[in-house]
Amino acid sequence: MGERIKLTEHSKKGGCAAKWAPGDLETILAGIMESTDPDLLAGFETSDDAAIYRLSEHQAAVLTVDFLTPLVDDPYDYGRVAATNAISDVYAMGGKPLCALNTLALDCKLGTEVAAEILRGGADAAHAAGIPIVGGHSIDDAEPKYGLCVLGLVDPDKVVRNKGAQVGDKIYLTKPIGTGLLSAGFKIREIGIEEFQCAIDSMCELNRAASEAMLEAGVHAATDVTGFSLAGHLHEMCEASGIGARIDFDAIPQFPGAWELAEAYCRPNRTFSIMDFAAPFLRDECVDLSEDELDNRLAIVCDPQTSGGLLCAIPPESAKAFEASFEARAGRKPTCIGEFCEGEFITLV
Ligand code: CO
Ligand code: CO
Repeated sequence: MGERIKLTEHSKKGGCAAKWAPGDLETILAGIMESTDPDLLAGFETSDDAAIYRLSEHQAAVLTVDFLTPLVDDPYDYGRVAATNAISDVYAMGGKPLCALNTLALDCKLGTEVAAEILRGGADAAHAAGIPIVGGHSIDDAEPKYGLCVLGLVDPDKVVRNKGAQVGDKIYLTKPIGTGLLSAGFKIREIGIEEFQCAIDSMCELNRAASEAMLEAGVHAATDVTGFSLAGHLHEMCEASGIGARIDFDAIPQFPGAWELAEAYCRPNRTFSIMDFAAPFLRDECVDLSEDELDNRLAIVCDPQTSGGLLCAIPPESAKAFEASFEARAGRKPTCIGEFCEGEFITLV
C-alpha cells in the first residue's frame, strides 16, 4: 500500500461516538408521520435496534442500517468493526441475519486498495455471521464512512425488544465498556495500538453467542450497547418497560486502561452530551466518593460504545442457564451488572 494510511486521521469523530445525540434524534423524528401498516411490528417510533416487518404468520424481516467513521487506523479492521456493529442490531432483536449490502463513502484519493481492504474486512465479518454481502453503494466523500444494511429473519412471536423487562430481572452485559475512551486515547496517541487492541478485538466479536444464549434463556428484553452508552441504552430499556434499574458500578466490566483515561479526562466529545442527557435519570448513591471519582464513574457509564455487547433482561430463575449457555458459546462468562427495579431512575450503587 506504499505510504501506510492512518484512517483515524481522516475522521473528526470515531465510530458510534459520531452519532447524533439521543435527545436530538427524538426531536427530528417527532415531525415524521408514523406508519399505520399493521405488518410493521417495530418502526422508528420506538427506540428498538431494528425495524420488524411481518412477512407471514411465522416470519418477519429484521431491517437495519449502520455505518461508522473510522476509529481504527487499519482499513481491514475498520471494515470488520463497522460490519460487526451493523449486524449486531439483528442479533439484539433476536433475529438471524440473512444477507447484507455495503454502504461506503470514501475519498477516491485514498485509492482502490484501501477501499478493497475495508470491504474485505466487512466481508469477513459477514462470513463469520454466516451471511453473504450481496451488493451495495459507494460515493466519493472526504470523510470515510462504512457499514452495512442488514436483512434478517425472526419469528414475529419471538422478537426481543427493548420493552418487556420486569422488576427483578437480572441485567447482563456481554462485552466490556470503554471503546469510546480507548479510541479517544488512541486518536491522540495517549495509548498505543497494543493497549487499544483488546477493544478492537472486542468490537470485531459478533453478538451471535449472546443472542443465541438470551433466546435460549427466555430473555424478557434486550438491546446492544452502542453510541448512546451503557446509561443511554439502559435508559431506553427502562423507559420502554416502565421501570428503573440498580447497577453495581464495580461489577461493570471495563477494558484495561478505560478508567485511567477517564481520570486523565481523555474522553470522546460525545460523552459530555450523553452526560447532560442522562442527568435527569441517572443517580449515584455512592455519596462518599470524591467529586472526581463520581465524574469518572459517569464517564464510564456514559462512554459511547462501538460494536458493544448485548444488554439483556434475564429472569432471575434463568440467570444460571443464560450464563452457562453464553459461556459454552463465547468461552467466557457474561457479567451481571445489576437488576431492574421499581421506579424510573438508573441508580449506581
Ligand atoms: Co442497536
Ligand atoms: Co444501530
